[in-house]
Amino acid sequence: SVPVLTIDGPSGSGKGTVSRLVAARLGWHYLDSGALYRAVGIAAGWSDIDLSDASALVRCAFDTDIAFRDDGSGELRVIVNGTDATDELRTETAGAAASAIAAIPEVRAALKERQRAFRRPPGLVADGRDMGTVIFPDAPYKVFLTASAEERAERRYKQLKEKGVSVTMDGLLREILARDARDASRAVAPLRPASDAVLIDTTGLPVEAVVARVLDLVSR
Ligand code: CDP
Repeated sequence: SVPVLTIDGPSGSGKGTVSRLVAARLGWHYLDSGALYRAVGIAAGWSDIDLSDASALVRCAFDTDIAFRDDGSGELRVIVNGTDATDELRTETAGAAASAIAAIPEVRAALKERQRAFRRPPGLVADGRDMGTVIFPDAPYKVFLTASAEERAERRYKQLKEKGVSVTMDGLLREILARDARDASRAVAPLRPASDAVLIDTTGLPVEAVVARVLDLVSR
C-alpha cells in the first residue's frame, strides 16, 4: 500500500515546516490536517454559526469546500469556498476556532475520509495531531515532535510577525498553552504520540537537523 509518514505534535513544535520540507525532499504529497480544521472553523464564522451549535458545525465540516493550491513559491494557498483564506487561516483566532470544533467527535468523523483521500502514490506526509493514532494508524513511519512551550511560542511569534500579524509574546504563550491544554484533555483524539511513534524533542534544534532525522527514519 501507499506509504505514509505521520508527523504529529503540539502547536509550534515545527510540524508544519518539517513536514513540508520532508514531503518536498521525498516527492510525496502533503496533508496539512490542521488547515482543514481551521478552514471549517472560519467557514463557520463566515456563516455566523455558533461554536456551540454542534449539528450546524458538522454540516459545515461536510459542506465546506477546501482546496490546496501550490502557488510555486513553495507555499500552499488554501482556498475556502472559493476564497483565498491563507492569511486568515494562520491567525490564532482561527487556531482557537479550529481547536474548539476539533473537540466535537462528529466533526472529526466528518473530516476522516477527506484526510484519508490524500494517501496517493508515491506517498504521503501527514501533519497533525492524530495522524499516527487515528487517521493513519497503519502508517509505516510515525514521528512525534515536541519542544518547550517557550520555544514553541517564540517560533509562532516570529512566524506571525513575518506575516505582519501583531501579537505579544506573553499573550501568544498564554493562548498556545490554553490550546494545548484543551487539545490534550479532550475526550476525542487527545494529543498524544502513537505507541509506535519516534519522539523528537526539537528544542534548540535547527529545522535542517530535524528534517535529516526524519528523512533518515524513512530511508532506513
Ligand atoms: O500549527 P498549529 O499546530 O498551531 O495548528 P494546526 O495544526 O493548524 O491545528 C489547529 C488546531 O486544530 C489544533 O489546536 C487542534 O485542536 C486541531 N487539530 C486537530 O484536532 N487534529 C488535527 N489532525 C489537526 C488539527
